Amino acid sequence: MNVINVDYDGMIPNNVGLNQDIRVRKALEKWHPGYLDWWQDMGPEGFQQALVYLRTAVSVDPKGWAKFDYVRMPEYKWGILLAPQVEDRKVPFGVHRGEKAWQEVPGEHRAMLRRLIVIQGDTEPASVEQQRHLGKTAPSLYDMRNLFQVNVEEGRHLWAMVYLLQKYFGADGRDEAEALLQRRSGDADTPRMLGAFNEKTPDWLSFFMFTTFTDRDGKMQLEALAQSGFDPLSRTCRFMLTEEAHHMFVGETGVTRVVERTCQAMKDAGIDDPYDIEAVRRLGVIDLPTVQKKANLHFSLSLDLFGNEISTNAANAFHAGLKGRFREERIKDDHQLESGTYPVLRLIDGKIEKQDVPALSGLNMRLRDDYVADCNVGIGRWNRVIETFNIPFQIKLPHVAFHRHIGEFSSVRADVDGNILSDAEWEKRRAEFLPSDSDRDFIESLMTPQYEPGKFAGWIAPPKVGIDNKPGDFEYVKIA
Ligand SMILES: [Fe+2]
Ligand SMILES: [Fe+2]
Repeated sequence: MNVINVDYDGMIPNNVGLNQDIRVRKALEKWHPGYLDWWQDMGPEGFQQALVYLRTAVSVDPKGWAKFDYVRMPEYKWGILLAPQVEDRKVPFGVHRGEKAWQEVPGEHRAMLRRLIVIQGDTEPASVEQQRHLGKTAPSLYDMRNLFQVNVEEGRHLWAMVYLLQKYFGADGRDEAEALLQRRSGDADTPRMLGAFNEKTPDWLSFFMFTTFTDRDGKMQLEALAQSGFDPLSRTCRFMLTEEAHHMFVGETGVTRVVERTCQAMKDAGIDDPYDIEAVRRLGVIDLPTVQKKANLHFSLSLDLFGNEISTNAANAFHAGLKGRFREERIKDDHQLESGTYPVLRLIDGKIEKQDVPALSGLNMRLRDDYVADCNVGIGRWNRVIETFNIPFQIKLPHVAFHRHIGEFSSVRADVDGNILSDAEWEKRRAEFLPSDSDRDFIESLMTPQYEPGKFAGWIAPPKVGIDNKPGDFEYVKIA
């Protein structure tokens, strides 16, 4: 066993020396059947026997860590992979900055650390549950394969968090690992922990928006946890980020292809007005204003994942050295933030105003601002496609006060530009901002599967290149 190459001999592929770690290996082997039951019950419906062309991590070497092959999803090798240990790593921020990074859980921060791991862990199976019906309406085998790749990797991310719980948190860790298999997305009695992970992902545009916006929240959270002074968490998250990049690729290029197809169809039909929705829909493609509304919905739900504007939890986690900032190492300051401020948009006397708050208290918003900037890079790619067709339309992110359920803006109704509306105005204009029932019905009417290799549903353009450089007509999924 070495840290780069993964041990595939046992039941659970890993680079953490499970063979020698009998207690943890036994605990994970005990957890495994429950996981497989969960996967059968809540994983991709109708495709458990299909052979899917999936990548599996076989190394944590950034230059070549995955191999591709046909796999039945329940037989996927969900492994435990930590990025290589950085020699002599120090706690990079907070009150313990400069001390040796912890290889064991620091006793005083145990509860906080466990909570951070459980919250991250809970999102992973949740998204698999949210996406479980989508295989039945896949617009191509290429897309179906990408969906399943995302799904098995979210499953692996659950393994990653469960390993930390089993290895470092004793009996409570075992209980938490069990509970992660018990909660269900959208369940009235035992929902997943965070709101956005209890929403439905009813169609493929939702899936692409989810992977664009909600997986990107995941990326930001992992980036912040990858900074952790608790070294095993840092190493775990660093490797998860390698996989996460593909999830955002799936989302961003998915929407790009939707937009491209719509623009091309409009051009072919001689339609210049993107707001002539009826005419565009008659072409069997999704009009750009509806794409915008879907973006509004998924962006606003994802913003809620960053929590409250002013947060003592975030301050404590940073102070303790457990959860850092996005690219902490590139920031030029004291990395302790005991003094200094950060500007935060707040609701003050019914108005949205920027206020300087203590830098530690504003950490959620700092991460969220980095997130918004990252989202804008992706949206720029969509807009470039629209530009090449000379269609006067731009997709924009809505204001952060729009359609919120967490934080200060949850108490008001704001439009996409951040103007506060009365409840009555909001109700009247709601369908301008968010998908209406008829928008949803229209999208649903397009969701007919296309399972022939190399063919694509009429509302989405083919990708520029195949996965693993496969040719256009490659059979990414052999449906059983
Ligand atoms: Fe994940
Ligand atoms: Fe993801």
